[in-house]
Amino acid sequence: MSKQFDVVVIGGGPGGYIAAIRAAQLGFNTACIDEWKNDKGGPAPGGTCTNVGCIPSKALLQSSEHFEHAGHGFADHGIAMNDLKIDIAKMVGRKDTVVKQNNDGILYLFKKNKVTFFHGRGSFVAAKDGGYELKVAGAAEETITAKHVIVATGSNARQLPGAPFDETNILSNDGALRIPAVPKKLGVIGSGVIGLEMGSVWRRLGADVTILEALPAFLGAADESVAKEAAKVFKKQGLNIELGVKISSVENGKDGVAVKYTDAKGAEQTLAVDKLIVSIGRVANTIGLNPEAVGLKLDERGAIVVDDECKTNLPNVWAVGDVVRGPMLAHKAEEEGVAVAERIAGQHGHVNFNTIPWVIYTSPEIAWVGRTEQQLKADGVAYKAGQFPFLANGRARALGDTTGFVKFLADAKTDEILGVHIIGPMASELISEAVVAMEFKASAEDIARICHAHPSLSEATKEAALAVDKRTLNF
Ligand code: FAD
Ligand code: NAI
Repeated sequence: MSKQFDVVVIGGGPGGYIAAIRAAQLGFNTACIDEWKNDKGGPAPGGTCTNVGCIPSKALLQSSEHFEHAGHGFADHGIAMNDLKIDIAKMVGRKDTVVKQNNDGILYLFKKNKVTFFHGRGSFVAAKDGGYELKVAGAAEETITAKHVIVATGSNARQLPGAPFDETNILSNDGALRIPAVPKKLGVIGSGVIGLEMGSVWRRLGADVTILEALPAFLGAADESVAKEAAKVFKKQGLNIELGVKISSVENGKDGVAVKYTDAKGAEQTLAVDKLIVSIGRVANTIGLNPEAVGLKLDERGAIVVDDECKTNLPNVWAVGDVVRGPMLAHKAEEEGVAVAERIAGQHGHVNFNTIPWVIYTSPEIAWVGRTEQQLKADGVAYKAGQFPFLANGRARALGDTTGFVKFLADAKTDEILGVHIIGPMASELISEAVVAMEFKASAEDIARICHAHPSLSEATKEAALAVDKRTLNF
C-alpha cells in the first residue's frame, strides 16, 4: 500500500520547506519532496534560494566586500595592507560550505518537526479518493497519496533567445556563482537585482563589468530618487551600465562571448567579454510536475494560476512562491507557505502584499517597502515626503559609510506611512522597522517619537520621519 499523508509539499525551497514545517507543527502527517542534488548526488533542500540564489550570492557579496574594504577602505582607518591577494577557489569553497550548512539545517529541521523527506522528483499521477496520487522518482521510485498538495516548484533563469546557458561562458545565476577565476571582462545582460548583485561581486574582485539593460530607465521598480542615487554611486564605483539597448546577437566562441547590440542612440555596438551573465528575469518552473494528469491550470507564462489565498483550480491543491504570481522573493514564498498550511488547518493565514520588503544587496544596499513617490503620484494620493542623509548620521560617519539616505512617504492628511525607501549602509536591516511600522499602520509621527539608540544608523530612520514634518534635529 502506498504511503499516505495529510499534506505533501512538492519542492523544498523557502516556500516548500517552510510550508512543510508549519503543516507538521499544526499536526498534519506531512511529507516534502525535493529533487535538488549536491555535487555528490545527495539531497540539497533549500531550493534556488539556498543553492544558487539568496544564500550563496550573499556569501560572495560579503567576501568581495571584505576584499574591496581591504584594498580601498582600510587605509582611512590607518590599516595598511600590502600585497593584497584573493584566492577565488577558497572564496567559492567558503560559499559552498555556507550552502551546505543551510542544506543540512533544513534536513535537521525536517527531522525535528517529523516531516518525511523524499529526495527525488514529485509528479501528479491522478486524483484519487478525494485526494491525489503522486509519484516520487528518485533513487527509489514510489507512489504516495496526499489529502492536500502544496506545489512549490520555484523558478528557473530565463534564457536569452539564441544564447543558451552553457554555464562556462554564458552564465545563469548558477554559473555566475562559481566563476573559477576573476574574468578580465564580464558582461551582464539585465540591470535587475541579479545583474547588480553579481556585477558588484565580480567588479569588486577586479573584473571590468558592463551591464546592458533594455529599459531606458534604471531600476524602474525603485523610488526614482533612490534609483538616481544608485546610478550615480555605481558609476563612480566603475560599474558601466548602458540603458536602452537592444541585443541583436550573442556569439559564444572559444575566446569568449561577443554581444552585438544597438545602443540607446541607435548605433550598432559589439561588447566582447570573457564571460556573460544573463539575468533577464526568471520563469515559473513546472518541469516534470505533470500538471496535465490532474488538470492543474497554468497561465500563458507557465505559472500556476492561484487566487489570493494560493488556491489553484483544483480542490486541496495549493501553490506558493516563485511558481505563482507576485514578486519572486524568498520571504514572499515563505509567508505564502505558512499561510497555506494555516488555511489547510482552518486558520486564517494571511500575506500582506503591501508590506513585502525589497532589498538589493549592493554597496550601498537598497531597500524599500510600500509605494514609491512615482506610484503615489500615479495613484493620485496626496503625500508628504521626508528625507535624511547618512552624511548627517554619527554612526555612518564612524563607519566611514555615509552614502545615501532614508526617505519617508506619508499620507498628507493622516500621516500614515505609505512607503519607506533606503539607500545606504545596512539598509537590509533598517527596512524592518519600516515594515513593522507599516504593518501596524503607524504614522511618520509614531516613528519620530520613538527613542532610537545612539549612535545608530536607525537614527537616520527617525530623522527621516521627523523630516516629513520638516523638523529634523541633526540636519
Ligand atoms: P525555489 O527556491 O526555486 O525552490 C523550488 C524547489 O523545488 C527546488 O529545490 C527544486 O529543485 C524543487 N523542485 C522543482 N520541481 C520539482 C519536482 N517536480 N519535484 C521535486 N522537487 C522539485 N530572494 C530574496 O528574497 N532575497 C534574496 O537575496 C534573493 N537573492 C537571489 C539571488 C539569486 C542569484 C537568485 C537566482 C534568486 C534570489 N532570490 C532572492 C529569489 C529567491 O531565491 C526565490 O524567490 C525563492 O528561492 C523562491 O522560493 P520557492 O520555494 O518558490 O522556489
Ligand atoms: P529582474 O527582473 O530583477 O531584472 C531583469 C532585468 O533584465 C530588467 O531590468 C529587465 O528590463 C532586463 N531585461 C529583460 N530582458 C532584457 C533583454 N533582452 N536585454 C536587456 N535587458 C533585459 O531579474 P533578475 O535580475 O534576473 O532576477 C530574477 C529575480 O530574482 C528578481 O526579480 C528577484 O525577484 C529575484 N532576486 C532577488 C534578489 C534580492 O531579493 N536581493 C537578488 C537576486 C534575485
